[in-house]
Amino acid sequence: MNDAPLDPLTALRPWEAPEVTSWGRLPMNAVDRRSGAVPLDGDWRFQLLPAPDAPLGEVWSSSYVPGVWTMQGTPDLPQYLNIRMPFAEFPPGVPAASPTGVYERSVDVPAEWAGRRIVLQVGAAESVLMVHVDGRPVGISKDSHLAAEFDLTGLVRPGERATVRLTVVKWSDASHIEDQDQWWHGGITRSVLLYAVDRLHLADVTVRARRDGDLLVECRVRDAGGALPRGWYVSGELDGHLLTQDTEFDRSNAEDERVSDFLGEARLRAAVPDVRTWNAETPELYGLTVRLHRADGTVADTSRHRVGFRDVEIAGRDLLVNGERVFIRGVNRHDFHPLTGRTVTRDDMRADLVLLKRFGFNAIRTAHYPNDPALYDLADELGFYVVDEADIESHDHAHEIADDPRYLGAFVDRVARMVLRDKNHPSVIVWSLGNESDYGANHDAAAGWVRRHDPTRPVQYEGAAKRGWADPDLASDIACPMYAPLEECLAHALSGTQTKPLVQCEYSHAMGNSNGTLADHWAAIEATPGLQGGFIWEFWDHGILQRVNDGRPAGRGGAGLYGNGVAAPGHRWAYGGDFGETDHDGAFIADGVVFPDRTPKPVMFEHREIAAPVRIDSFRHEGVVLSNHQHFRGLEWLSGEWELSLADGDTLTAPAELPALRPGETAAVPLPFVVPEEGGEAWLTLRVTTAGDEPWAPRGTVVCLPQVRLRAALPPAHTRVPDGTVEVDEDGLLVHPLLTAAPTLSLWRAPTDNDALGGMADRWRDWGLEAPVREVVSVRRSPGRVAVVSDYRCAGGTVRHEQVITAMDGGLIVDESAELPEVLHDVARVGTVFETVAGLDLLEWFGQGPWESYPDRAAGAPVGHHRLPVDELFTPYLRPQESGGRHGVRRFTLSAPDATGLAVRLDRARQVSVTRHRAADLAAVAHPDELVPRAGCVVHIDAAHRGLGTASCGPDTFASYLVSAGVHRWSWTLRVL
Ligand code: GAL
Ligand code: MG
Repeated sequence: MNDAPLDPLTALRPWEAPEVTSWGRLPMNAVDRRSGAVPLDGDWRFQLLPAPDAPLGEVWSSSYVPGVWTMQGTPDLPQYLNIRMPFAEFPPGVPAASPTGVYERSVDVPAEWAGRRIVLQVGAAESVLMVHVDGRPVGISKDSHLAAEFDLTGLVRPGERATVRLTVVKWSDASHIEDQDQWWHGGITRSVLLYAVDRLHLADVTVRARRDGDLLVECRVRDAGGALPRGWYVSGELDGHLLTQDTEFDRSNAEDERVSDFLGEARLRAAVPDVRTWNAETPELYGLTVRLHRADGTVADTSRHRVGFRDVEIAGRDLLVNGERVFIRGVNRHDFHPLTGRTVTRDDMRADLVLLKRFGFNAIRTAHYPNDPALYDLADELGFYVVDEADIESHDHAHEIADDPRYLGAFVDRVARMVLRDKNHPSVIVWSLGNESDYGANHDAAAGWVRRHDPTRPVQYEGAAKRGWADPDLASDIACPMYAPLEECLAHALSGTQTKPLVQCEYSHAMGNSNGTLADHWAAIEATPGLQGGFIWEFWDHGILQRVNDGRPAGRGGAGLYGNGVAAPGHRWAYGGDFGETDHDGAFIADGVVFPDRTPKPVMFEHREIAAPVRIDSFRHEGVVLSNHQHFRGLEWLSGEWELSLADGDTLTAPAELPALRPGETAAVPLPFVVPEEGGEAWLTLRVTTAGDEPWAPRGTVVCLPQVRLRAALPPAHTRVPDGTVEVDEDGLLVHPLLTAAPTLSLWRAPTDNDALGGMADRWRDWGLEAPVREVVSVRRSPGRVAVVSDYRCAGGTVRHEQVITAMDGGLIVDESAELPEVLHDVARVGTVFETVAGLDLLEWFGQGPWESYPDRAAGAPVGHHRLPVDELFTPYLRPQESGGRHGVRRFTLSAPDATGLAVRLDRARQVSVTRHRAADLAAVAHPDELVPRAGCVVHIDAAHRGLGTASCGPDTFASYLVSAGVHRWSWTLRVL
């Protein structure tokens, strides 16, 4: 034991005292102090102690702030666990060993701050922060995703140097309510700064701006010296127009000095004529400056805000923004970065939001804690509806904690501090009490506080909503389930008992190759009053960039070591288990719609179409019927171009005149082409782009590609008159100069995460579908034709396969059938697989594309002529699995640079994939960098391919997307180019 006198903060052992939510911390407020502050970011002296009460050592290293030490070269590495806590102790207990980071630096306190109030702000620290200045205790804070402020006036001397020490304890009672599904880290994740204000200052400003132009600004004024001086007043200016004092309320200059001193409140009002309202489509903002004046009129303090005039209300079962029942096209977003773990810059967040806008999203749930403050500024500016969520998730011990009075203060504190910080953001339309923490009295206490403090926004909490979607007494104004089956949502909306808006807080789990049936969900949502949307789980694949050789996070130096979703050689995207931890939840952390480098996954393109602001409703004699699917905006910000794609012809283009349509309106526009008689199947696409620069997209950015079929394909010819020769080997396998593996039957795919976690992969493995044994039953040769019957035997049964190959028109026609016994219901695929010689590196196809699509995730990909290098067809999901498929393919060529190669034509639109990997190659490895690409191509042509669904967390695909037992037939032709 050391004999040093026990530090009073340490002596409190705040890390195992849930009743202690803070000590010496200033109240939260909405006054932004970032500008004019002295930033304390950078390298701090650092020690990592094994426990919070361990003695400080002699040796200091350094650590970058803001940052987590788990990503900065310490032995304490990131650990990924979903629900289970990383230690066995019951709440509020923690293990004695608890990594504790001691950060220290000296600060030169500006001499001109003499006489001012000096405040230290720590942006975020997890999970307990203890602050000392020059060895003296200053304060304690918990609540890992909100800032903590401490008054240092009197503790530091302007013009002199002070030593600030921040001690951060990783495991605490608070960890039990910060058990979100993400990596565990320790450190200071947001900026640290020091600022000074006048002793007479604005303690808080609350702005209420309604869509009728009514503006109310409430100010709280404090004086660090205690009593407020006489004669202070507040003025306000909105885009240059002065606001009026609300005399009815303004007692700041009241006769009774005591009252005014004590209250320190002032109200300003304005009625803005012809106000430009805020909504996610046209996020109009006004600049508000609030000034606090001393009696002589000089300015003591200033607070700047951006104001959006808008109303949020629930009317019946509709959630209304400015009176409109807006669809919530949302995503759950964590503060995540592959190099820093948690620390994100304003530029990072802007890039997230810009990408989301470009792909049709209009809402964010800040899963599962208040995000970095800059996110809300950006959401106001770019236009997003935000569900702001408090940092409360007690998943592993949810039931115990929800009613545990020791945690009551923490629940209310966390919700209240979030509301106090974010209340002035027009983007925030709903408060969320947290996530996955069961439901108890602690929630009701928090909900009660919010409802009283901010009656202008609804409150939601999934754990409460779960008790009854229509129950009026619960702490959720919104029915916000997670992963509820669509039929359940529909049944509720149609039941006549619905009382609250139904907006799923999580749905369509984006783990790996996923998000099947998203379009079906949206078709139902848009068609069903009572359904209003939801938030996809989730934005990020939380892969950490890791060096493969030593297993360390690449850290901040790893910038530039990735792109297009892929980590540079020698690196990979780490998921649970990759840091040597034995207790982890594997790739469940890789469940986002973007790769860890923000490269959009194919589902993003699907989403962009689902959210299309302008659509083609139909094609009629008189023309193409267009409709405006926005809530507030016309079409004037869009421009269009028509594309006519002929299956056996070219793509023609013509400029499009978009009609002036208000939201909800439709109009027919004349068909811009005379469709040529020849050319077969014909598709008309409206290529919609931004007409000018939008804050989130330069002019010419694709917004959507709605499409309509003008003419169907002619049925394929059925005559088979041989006119050449077919060569097969003794096993009846095709011998062909361009194929290195003959066409055989394929029933399996490398399990997707949904297949694996949904139990399908196990079933397929038990059936032996991966490698059935092929037994030739008969090979019948006739001139120009070979008919081969074979049995594919596996543990699950025997599949009879027939392949009739006819030489015709200089190529081959392959007619196939497969008969699956009843027991083999719901297999991955039924189709043909073959492999080609090396060198055929370009795929050109007529079908859906260009992005990856699957039967239940193919609503958005337009039919047309597409071309991509084979290497770009594959999607590098963090855990390799079935990928690279293209739906609705009618024909394709695979060619070498000299245009030699092969051409395939299918009997009808089918699922095709061309990659460098066999299904078994994909299934054998855990990360994409372990894959060895084959020189040739592995080609799958599927008669039927199972939908993707979302069974890794949530409903599986629909029955209509399953591959059932029985007879499947398909035909295709193979020709040499
Ligand atoms: C939800 C939870 C999320 C995440 C997701 C699965 O239950 O709220 O945090 O765990 O499931 O990825
Ligand atoms: Mg959870």
